[in-house]
Amino acid sequence: MEETSFRITVLTTGEEFRSSPGESLLAAMGRLGRKGIPAGCLGGGCGVCKIRIESGEGTKLGPVSRAHVSEEEEALGYTLACRMAAASDLAVSVVGKFRKPFVRGFGGSVSSD
Ligand code: FES
Repeated sequence: MEETSFRITVLTTGEEFRSSPGESLLAAMGRLGRKGIPAGCLGGGCGVCKIRIESGEGTKLGPVSRAHVSEEEEALGYTLACRMAAASDLAVSVVGKFRKPFVRGFGGSVSSD
């Protein structure tokens, strides 16, 4: 039987990847196998992997630093990819410090938001 996984769409670049339940979105995103995906603290502390969940449901894997994601932001869907797993298919945007290297590493055309 095929393992259950969810489809994650990165609105910023139009890329897609699969993520398994309980797996961090950052780890899953790493399988895109390209430049611009940071290896940060992987523990919710450094903020280099900030994303916004635009649609779908996530499962929090642990605490995120309030220095990087405020309660107000969290209510709007902002989170850290190393601390979030998919609980459904998701659409996400790459934001904050993560956006520039991510877009540069992509090398294609990106949405202008
Ligand atoms: S890698 Fe440091 S907060 Fe995600």
